Amino acid sequence: MTQDELKALVGQAALKYVVPGEIVGVGTGSTVNKFIDALATMKDQIKGAVSSSEASTVRLKALGIPVFDSNEVESLSVYIDGADEIDHQGHMVKGGGAALTREKIVAAQSKQFVCIADESKLVDALGAFPLPVEVIPMATARVMRQFAAMGGQAVVRQKDGQPLVTDNGQHIVDVKGLKITDPVAFETEVSQWPGVVTVGVFALQKAQVCLLGTAAGVKTLSY
Ligand code: 5RP
Repeated sequence: MTQDELKALVGQAALKYVVPGEIVGVGTGSTVNKFIDALATMKDQIKGAVSSSEASTVRLKALGIPVFDSNEVESLSVYIDGADEIDHQGHMVKGGGAALTREKIVAAQSKQFVCIADESKLVDALGAFPLPVEVIPMATARVMRQFAAMGGQAVVRQKDGQPLVTDNGQHIVDVKGLKITDPVAFETEVSQWPGVVTVGVFALQKAQVCLLGTAAGVKTLSY
């Protein structure tokens, strides 16, 4: 199976975690796009979605799924999202699609995080994928120096020759060369650096379940 077919497989498999009559938390990315397409087949059975990005909102609305502001909803039963990396404890690196801040917000208001990923995303330790960090632009150079002091090499993510601007009006730095041996401690520390909006390690909001697309079918991993 191609990676695209594996993504479609887990996007479809995630439907069984959607609670009829409720609002579902929806992540961002190419795997989630498959989930959104599948969700459209049961749109009459749900109230709608809280979305983690402008891109997912556009796709949800185009398929006739109502989108609620996160402030209108106290809590969600389930949040369904992809990952750039997931380890054997359910810790993740996310933000390849630059939506990490809103993803962490929706994950925090959800009782269960269901990660959908193809098997290329499963890792023994986080850090091979360049770590996305959303930063307030005036802090970028100092945050990059702090990562250099940890042994990382940070670059400002570009789009059309300019720093990419997130849905929140901020920039992203991508950091290579980090060894994230204690994801909870790492997330806790970097989250406190002045100017860091969100670090792309999801350890405090880790997955409870991962639906992993493999050549042998969907494997369900629980943490
Ligand atoms: C977006 C994310 C995505 O979940 C992550 O980048 C995985 O994306 P894809 O499903 O396209 O591989 O964190 O900010």
